[in-house]
Amino acid sequence: ESHLSPSVAKELITTAQALVGPRGRGIYATDESPEAMDALLRAEAEDSDEKPKPYGDDDRRERRKGWKKDAYDVLSSEFVSGVILSSETLLDFNLGPSLISKGIIVGVRAHGELAPLPTSPFEFIVQGLDNLLPNLQAARAAGARFSKWRAPIACTSPALELPTQVSLDVQAETLAMFAAISQQAGLVPIVEPDVEFSADASLERSVEVHEKAIGMIYARCREHGVLLEGTLLKPSFPQPGLKHPSRSSTTPKDIALATLAVVSRAVPSAVPGVVFLSGGLPSSVAVSYLSAVNALVNSSSAPSPFARLPPLTFSYGRAIQGDAIKHWLKGEKDSMKSSLEEACKSCYKAAKGE
Ligand code: 13P
Repeated sequence: ESHLSPSVAKELITTAQALVGPRGRGIYATDESPEAMDALLRAEAEDSDEKPKPYGDDDRRERRKGWKKDAYDVLSSEFVSGVILSSETLLDFNLGPSLISKGIIVGVRAHGELAPLPTSPFEFIVQGLDNLLPNLQAARAAGARFSKWRAPIACTSPALELPTQVSLDVQAETLAMFAAISQQAGLVPIVEPDVEFSADASLERSVEVHEKAIGMIYARCREHGVLLEGTLLKPSFPQPGLKHPSRSSTTPKDIALATLAVVSRAVPSAVPGVVFLSGGLPSSVAVSYLSAVNALVNSSSAPSPFARLPPLTFSYGRAIQGDAIKHWLKGEKDSMKSSLEEACKSCYKAAKGE
């Protein structure tokens, strides 16, 4: 039973499935805020010895637009099913149609800025529910067919007590409301619980936090009447924190086993796909994790619960474009093109377990 009309429900389901199939295809996340994109272009410029220039607002805007246009030109629907755009890229630069004409589905970032939780300053409320419906309706009118909302979730050892229960309650409720409103606007919601790995959690602790956070999100989605068949989940890979001693000895296979445990335990089988974020991992590491996950799926047969999981693919940002931006800033258009193509192809192969 759904409050959505049959035609809307059908379109949401079809879009969600198209974003994770045929197997191997995945999403390229390019939805940095204008400020974050400027910082990325500036940081990469400094990295690559180019002297940072005293750019004005208009120059910076043109540079953001130039990068996105050149990047989107390279993409092929063979490897990339969808691209997530910032509202600037979608509404001001109007770059949606160039992707749609290639058969790539356009999505929009729905979440706003973060505000610290009053009782726990290292955890955050995600803003943006006010005006969400009209904002998403405008995005749909500009060609978007899906949206995403990122909720950061702290993760420490039990001794340091993060995440707090109240932060998990807030993120689950916010993500479920986002999902319901996104479907009301006719957009497939991608629900993104991003469990951080900067602290001292073990792999087991990261698994526990992922399972709990994701389970709570689906409990709230049920209350808000979200049609799970017309949604996708975008989680982090469970992993030991950077300050945990096991970080350096953990293998992609360990990560794969932990990831499949989380997905098989916490994600309802109505959800048509899982698209992982790269979270700032080096590109080769993000690809090795996705590849190990899918290799483990490929080697599993019934009665293993891993044999019947939905498609597990990528929704990477930094892991796809990191090197390409460096080439672009140096004016090396050919290297930029081949770097971006190669990155998309590596993710595609990893999502097939190759
Ligand atoms: P990363 O893959 O760079 O983490 O970006 C994915 C994303 O959309 C984060 O919100």
